[in-house]
Amino acid sequence: MESSCDETAAAVVEDGTRLLATSLVSSAAIQAQYGGVVPEVAAREHAMAILPVVDWVLKEAGLDLADIDAVAVTQGPGLLGSLLVGVTFAKTLGASLHVPVIGVHHLEAHLYANALMAPIEFPALALLVSGGHTSLFYWQGHRDLRLLGETQDDAAGEAFDKAARILHMTYPGGPQIERLARQARKKSFKLPVADMHGRLDFSFSGVKTATAALYREHPDEPEEVAYALQEAVVRALVQTVKRALARYPVGDLYLAGGVTANEAIREAFLHLGAELGIRIHIPPVSYCTDNAAMVASLGYYQWQAGETMGAFEGPKVLFPLGQREGE
Ligand code: KG4
Ligand code: ZN
Repeated sequence: MESSCDETAAAVVEDGTRLLATSLVSSAAIQAQYGGVVPEVAAREHAMAILPVVDWVLKEAGLDLADIDAVAVTQGPGLLGSLLVGVTFAKTLGASLHVPVIGVHHLEAHLYANALMAPIEFPALALLVSGGHTSLFYWQGHRDLRLLGETQDDAAGEAFDKAARILHMTYPGGPQIERLARQARKKSFKLPVADMHGRLDFSFSGVKTATAALYREHPDEPEEVAYALQEAVVRALVQTVKRALARYPVGDLYLAGGVTANEAIREAFLHLGAELGIRIHIPPVSYCTDNAAMVASLGYYQWQAGETMGAFEGPKVLFPLGQREGE
């Protein structure tokens, strides 16, 4: 079960790798009226959708509740009201079925969208690019992530969402920026990306400000502005990952998170893979954005490791992932 933000999702996964059914209800269209996610609205929508989505996946998989061996749920990070709906539902379900409940980290789960395609090849580098996070990890094994770098301000998804607002478009902005950027012809504007002085961190608040300034100068060329923003984000991501691969020469790079649904980002990394002779793994677009299949997959590995949720454990709104290098 996934309910950390504005998507209520359920999935049934066998052995962590085989997806039997998946279902999702999004309140994004409702949230778009407000220009962003309103926590109370999201929580209310989750409460209404959770039972139908669970019902639906069981029917789709041809299973009964009695066939379920374990229940995995996103424990955090996310909006408290939203997380509470999923966690409370999962714990109730687990208690009534007498099966373990596993609390899953939402961002780590994003990486496990890749496990639904093929077993993860360790060690690897993993780049997570979502609405709230831009983080790079050294991935040594299941449950073993080392944080190499992360955004110092805005996440890449936030840059897309905020730029979309500047261009008078609704939430979520990423897909709309991508559509608009595709119409660019000149492709001559170039926005600067932050110089991180050799570190493996990111920073996207500057590019957002630069996007606003560029649009003020060229209000009749929104598609060129959108293209310039997208190009700058791609450049920052590729540049940092390339730097990381020079220090950590692994053969596999895993991408995950909503922003990796972006075609320009996917292409740029496939290109990098060909250039460096390494394997690039990117989940299909529908598993890049929030879904429950990735939660069930990671839940399986945690269950195998005996990591179940305690009776008095609740949601974790702030939930760090991975020890930072040198800490
Ligand atoms: O991973 P995700 O679904 O939710 C979080 O856990 O944050 O990521 C949502 C983010 C939003 O910022 C959205 O604008 C962005 O992913 N996004 C995209 C695209 N599709 C979704 N950004 C750029 N291009 C896309 N095609
Ligand atoms: Zn997410």
